[in-house]
Amino acid sequence: MKRKIKKTKKILVIHGPSLGLLGEREPNIYGRVTLKQINSALRKIASSNKVKLLIRQSNYEGEIVDLICRARNKFNALLINPAAYTHTSVAIRDAISGSGIITAEVHLSNIYAREDFRHKSLISPVVQATITGFGPKSYLLGLEALIDLLDAQ
Ligand code: DQA
Repeated sequence: MKRKIKKTKKILVIHGPSLGLLGEREPNIYGRVTLKQINSALRKIASSNKVKLLIRQSNYEGEIVDLICRARNKFNALLINPAAYTHTSVAIRDAISGSGIITAEVHLSNIYAREDFRHKSLISPVVQATITGFGPKSYLLGLEALIDLLDAQ
């Protein structure tokens, strides 16, 4: 009997604007964990599940749109913290919905417990799920959930 060989799954991780400053940026809201530490925790989960990760941080909306559009047919899923673009970017929303890529949107803080302008995410309606408010754990939960989804496919 022929065994089905499963291809290695690839997940693209995008950190939006100002997330490069994590650890120093408003630690009362975002905590003291750095982006480097979050990325290494994500890499650990990925490697123990035999998943490949490409991780990018960008402060530029157009660059994020490019990354998402190029991810089409190359990545199995997208994990994204669009940061401030969550609340403003029709371009990122359209790139996600146009790419058809399974996406988890994550936020460190609970955007619904903060200022009114953060209560609306333009991204949430076009993603599989949103995880908001668990600090760095939001990323880890998002990645684990995406891996489970891909495994079930
Ligand atoms: C954030 C929440 C956004 O409102 C904010 O602009 C960010 C970070 C979060 O992870 O909590 O930059 O996405």
